[in-house]
Amino acid sequence: MRRNLFLFLLLFLATAVGYASRHSAMDLDATPRMTIVYNDLTAARLFSSHAQNYTTLLLEDKKGILYVGARGAIFSLNSSNIADSSHQTMDWEASPEKRADCLKKGKNNKTECYNHIRLLQRLNSTHLYACGTYAFHPLCTYIDTNKFMLPSHFEEGKERCPYDPARGYTGLIVDGSLYTATRYEFRSLPDIRRNRHQRPLKTEESPLHWLNDAEFVASVLVRESVRSPVGDDDKIYYFFTERAGEETTSVFDKTQAPRVARVARVCKSDLGGKKILQRKWTSFMKARLACYIPYYEVLKDVYSLNGGDWRSTVFYAAFTLSAHWRSMEVSAICRYNISEVRAAFEGSYMEYQDSSRKWSQYNGDVPEPRPGSCITDRARKSGYNSSQDLPNGVLDFIKLHPLMYEEVKPADGDPLLVKKNVIYTQVAVDRVQALDGQVYDMLFLGTGHGWIHKAVVIGSRVHIIEEIQAFRDPQPVENLIISEQQRSLYVGAQSGVLQLPLSTCKQYVSCFDCVLARDPYCGWDGESCREVAETRDRALLIQDVLHGNMGCWNDCAPATPMQKNRTVLRGDDVLLPCEQASNLARATWLMNGTQVQTEGGQGHFRLGVDGLLVTDTQLEFSGEYRCYAEENGLWGLVATYVLTVLPEQQAPPILSTMSQPSGPDARRDDGDAKFIYIAVITVLGGLCLVLSVVLLYVSCLQKRSGKYSLGVPQASSIELQTVSANCLSKGGQEEEGDPGVYPDGCLQIIPGEAPTAPSPSKEAPPAPPPPPPPLPAEFTNGITTLPNMLRKMNGNSYMLLRQNEEPCTSPLYNSFTEELSKILEKRKHTQLVEKLDESSV
Ligand SMILES: *[C@@H]1O[C@H](CO)[C@@H](O)[C@H](O)[C@H]1NC(C)=O
Ligand SMILES: *[C@@H]1O[C@H](CO)[C@@H](O)[C@H](O)[C@H]1NC(C)=O
Ligand SMILES: *[C@@H]1O[C@H](CO)[C@@H](O)[C@H](O)[C@H]1NC(C)=O
Ligand SMILES: *[C@@H]1O[C@H](CO)[C@@H](O)[C@H](O)[C@H]1NC(C)=O
Ligand SMILES: *[C@@H]1O[C@H](CO)[C@@H](O)[C@H](O)[C@H]1NC(C)=O
Ligand SMILES: *[C@@H]1O[C@H](CO)[C@@H](O)[C@H](O)[C@H]1NC(C)=O
Repeated sequence: MRRNLFLFLLLFLATAVGYASRHSAMDLDATPRMTIVYNDLTAARLFSSHAQNYTTLLLEDKKGILYVGARGAIFSLNSSNIADSSHQTMDWEASPEKRADCLKKGKNNKTECYNHIRLLQRLNSTHLYACGTYAFHPLCTYIDTNKFMLPSHFEEGKERCPYDPARGYTGLIVDGSLYTATRYEFRSLPDIRRNRHQRPLKTEESPLHWLNDAEFVASVLVRESVRSPVGDDDKIYYFFTERAGEETTSVFDKTQAPRVARVARVCKSDLGGKKILQRKWTSFMKARLACYIPYYEVLKDVYSLNGGDWRSTVFYAAFTLSAHWRSMEVSAICRYNISEVRAAFEGSYMEYQDSSRKWSQYNGDVPEPRPGSCITDRARKSGYNSSQDLPNGVLDFIKLHPLMYEEVKPADGDPLLVKKNVIYTQVAVDRVQALDGQVYDMLFLGTGHGWIHKAVVIGSRVHIIEEIQAFRDPQPVENLIISEQQRSLYVGAQSGVLQLPLSTCKQYVSCFDCVLARDPYCGWDGESCREVAETRDRALLIQDVLHGNMGCWNDCAPATPMQKNRTVLRGDDVLLPCEQASNLARATWLMNGTQVQTEGGQGHFRLGVDGLLVTDTQLEFSGEYRCYAEENGLWGLVATYVLTVLPEQQAPPILSTMSQPSGPDARRDDGDAKFIYIAVITVLGGLCLVLSVVLLYVSCLQKRSGKYSLGVPQASSIELQTVSANCLSKGGQEEEGDPGVYPDGCLQIIPGEAPTAPSPSKEAPPAPPPPPPPLPAEFTNGITTLPNMLRKMNGNSYMLLRQNEEPCTSPLYNSFTEELSKILEKRKHTQLVEKLDESSV
């Protein structure tokens, strides 16, 4: 393990120079701006039935139907609302005999000995073609979509569908022929095959295996014959991870031959050779696909997008890094242009030297027509009308040179996104025209725990707009499909299919909120944040995808957070809640107009994600506290408190202040005070126990959500400008006696904070702050029962203290420390990587 680590670091260093030099400070932890947990989902629709494993999706957008292949069943759903009652079901279970057979073979009766539908494709205008694993005995069939009933006739599926439901597999029907890639049988070699064609084809296995333990993730048809000046053919591209035969560096021992991501392609009109390469592809070529850290990346999914012309095709690929270093989860997203993929296939070949048992660049003569290329006009002119006419020299060459020397690098040379602590399993992309006239690609990334990250590609960077918990129980996202027609995203997973709207602009309550989101689907119309697609008069909408902070100048919403009072005894701790809706917002606290020093987590003030913690309060801490949210150069007031610290002697009056709103206890006489105090603590303790169990669960759910952070905002260079008169007059919220140095609810531009922030003289109107943080019951100052625990945490800003409506919200001590140590552990690893990153500059 240690050796691996060392090698990893070595490799990382070596490659980071090449791959990450330009983005040396790449943000490894791009934070999703909003976190939407399952219970907060609006307009989500879930379809699930008796079946499991809703992995295969086929959307027919024009017809408004979503077909779903699950375990033992196929469903036909109304794509406008997959949860409505109009769905049709076609049960297709494995027969009892085949199940018994499967069990005899020692297969897992919980997962493998079922009919998992792996292929669902449109065959012709009346029929679908479907294949299932059928308890390790694959079958395929034709489904009449009008009747939607299980047919009586089945075809042998062993050449078309894997036996193993978990095996990487991809299949396409192109012009009536079936192109599949997987490892079909238990012990067989992986293969790209064409069936349902007068000339079925396979890959070559001798003397070289063209594929080496390949795990397929996707295949894409690119119609390159369309308006091709050279009479080119359509091609099918395959994406997979395989063992890198060409890597013989001693760094890797044999059992751990490195795995690399690959792209391969074949020509649609390939007919195989006549004598040599009979029934084999004559157009198979493969090249390495590099993203971030070669040899340590596993391809998870690929999505292709073209703007109507195949020449503009781009592939978005999701990788996870490092099966070798399991303690760290890292994912990367890379984008590839078709032109660069084609260039690799037009470059030089690799060759295997038997003598040295090594692959190296081939520098010899290349026969004509160029081996591996499709039949083009030029070849036809020379008399080669099909692959069957190709000369032996060319076919012999193809047999031994399936691998290209050049690797395919991501567009712009770098990954679009590298993210820690997440495994992206699926990617789907939508292309949107924003109001600035630019076209933006929207990424929908499914995670291994059932979350969706929605992100917008801006130049060569990615801004994650939100993370959405699509399923209550963590489970990998296994399929993602976008419907333009319905403006929906369909998410396939083990427990069901979820339909989500592509955008829910309503969640943004102010102009600034709407603009800060940078969501090309959303615009502010003066009153609310709306779906651009559903708005006729788009000229009036405000949107700023590029910078995410412009356009709201005339929008002066007057909402001001209510001022709240907190009274504590000297020496007590108090939490002033200030919850930010946006994970990207930084909190800054001002006390009587001066910034509260929270630097380093030392001293009496500590900043956490949900507020300001004041420990061991002193009399001089009394005063007015204001919490501002700073995001992307914009500022907004979120909460105001007046804190009163009383000397210890005044205990009884304090008790009554503290219990004021809850009433009954306040009127007891002093003698009872102690008893009440103890009783309250006991009750709270009980509540604690109950709540902490709930919280433990919630915190488990939220662990993935990126809400917790240890970071202490660096607020040293912050300077608040004077207020705009505009705001004050319009908002009319100026407090008496306060000359308006820091106006309530006003947003201000801080020069230098955002790249395009206007000059400070420009007037910024106030933004309605997010809804005020939920108030704890007034009789407690938030945390009176917990000071010991908090003090234990010396030096680290506290984290898991979440103040909800409940009077007591502290998790159990042990869960708290557990959580902390986990996060610290993760942080250790990430710091390692970050440091490496810096050192590679
Ligand atoms: C789907 O549901 C919508 C609204 O209920 C309906 O108008 C439409 O006809 C349905 N489509 C299909 C294919 O059943
Ligand atoms: C699977 O096998 C186990 C042990 O052989 C058995 O207890 C269980 O009932 C079986 N489950 C099913 C669904 O057949
Ligand atoms: C579609 O294919 C099926 C199965 O081969 C066949 O029975 C049916 O006639 C075809 N339909 C059309 C319209 O060609
Ligand atoms: C099917 O779903 C079950 C849980 O519902 C899971 O354990 C199993 O791994 C899934 N099988 C496949 C092939 O995805
Ligand atoms: C190729 O096709 C052309 C025209 O269709 C024909 O004249 C020629 O003989 C064919 N060549 C071969 C080698 O079949
Ligand atoms: C803050 O202001 C309040 C009232 O205006 C005053 O009582 C308090 O002493 C001030 N605190 C500090 C530290 O200046």
